[in-house]
Amino acid sequence: MARWPALIALLLAGHVLAAGPDLAAGEYLFRAAGCANCHTDREHGGAPLAGGRKLATPLGDFYTPNITPDPDTGLGRWTEADFRRALREGRGPDGRHYYPSFPYAAYSRLSDADIGNLWAYLKTVPPVRQANRPHVLPWYLQPRPLLAGWKRLYFRPGPFVPEAGKDAVWNRGAYLVRALGHCAECHTPRNRLGGFRIGMYLAGDKAGAEGGLVPNITPDKATGIGRWRRGELIDYLKTGMRPDGDSAGGLMAEVIDNGLKYLSEPDIEAMATYLQSVPAVTHAVRKPKPARDEFEY
Ligand code: HEC
Ligand code: HEC
Repeated sequence: MARWPALIALLLAGHVLAAGPDLAAGEYLFRAAGCANCHTDREHGGAPLAGGRKLATPLGDFYTPNITPDPDTGLGRWTEADFRRALREGRGPDGRHYYPSFPYAAYSRLSDADIGNLWAYLKTVPPVRQANRPHVLPWYLQPRPLLAGWKRLYFRPGPFVPEAGKDAVWNRGAYLVRALGHCAECHTPRNRLGGFRIGMYLAGDKAGAEGGLVPNITPDKATGIGRWRRGELIDYLKTGMRPDGDSAGGLMAEVIDNGLKYLSEPDIEAMATYLQSVPAVTHAVRKPKPARDEFEY
């Protein structure tokens, strides 16, 4: 009989260890979430995650902050609770609101465990001393308290809730697309206040991220990717190769090269399952390509 308490203690300890932060999982999540795309200024040879990348938007130019563990210029003095609040609520340790150019509306949907693993991983990257560059915004967008209004209109914090009636694969795909991949941040068109346009989920934008064209990725046959076979969509997400032989360019090339290409086969398949299930929206954002025999010489 006396052996039981010891056994239970052992099982509990095993559970606590298993539930502790997992660095490999953190690195995987970090890639799926594309944190490095924005927080590394690759164009100017910037150090990983030291920030300084310019994000040009119709509202102004944002410069991403340093998220390495440097104590003075990065997150070195942050606690896990600070990090959790940044992703879940879009607020800094001092309570200030973040601009939605940091896609916390998507990251708010991450699970508690995934935020913990991401934080464990971020603490292991080399600290870099590099001061943050201020954003360049018109005066009327500078006061951060204004962002409380934006949040009231367009931000619903809280972790992803699996949809009842959908299977585990669909729900995993939804989590990867909505929470981690923040695909809607670029692929859903916005209104003038920066909120997503209703009924236009993933329907593309003529002048989206950095002013460029972002295609419609709903299953609409004429204007979206409804004619792509499942295998073609999976190949594109893994390699960037389109069914017509073109390869992904610009921001999507970064999303794939720094992120999606590292994901497991089941995760890519789950994303394809989810993407092929979203409502088809007819929204033409790109000019139809000329058929091959229409080329002029
Ligand atoms: C689309 C670009 C983009 C992506 C992707 C992105 N961020 Fe950011 N992030 C920003 C911007 C811009 C800010 C500054 C927001 C502000 O000043 O209000 C920011 C701010 C932050 C902050 C607050 C830093 C501080 O000093 O207050 C943290 C922490 C952070 N990001 C972590 C992450 C993590 C972790 C990921 C991946 C899960 C990530 N970011 C992905 C653009 C991005
Ligand atoms: C930073 C902005 C951005 C994010 C985030 C983003 N995309 Fe894209 N995506 C683009 C752009 C821009 C293109 C067009 C690429 C090109 O011109 O080759 C594109 C192209 C695509 C295409 C090809 C469509 C076509 O008709 O050629 C698919 C499929 C796609 N994205 C899926 C996704 C998925 C799934 C996610 C989330 C994991 C995602 N994208 C996240 C910007 C983005």
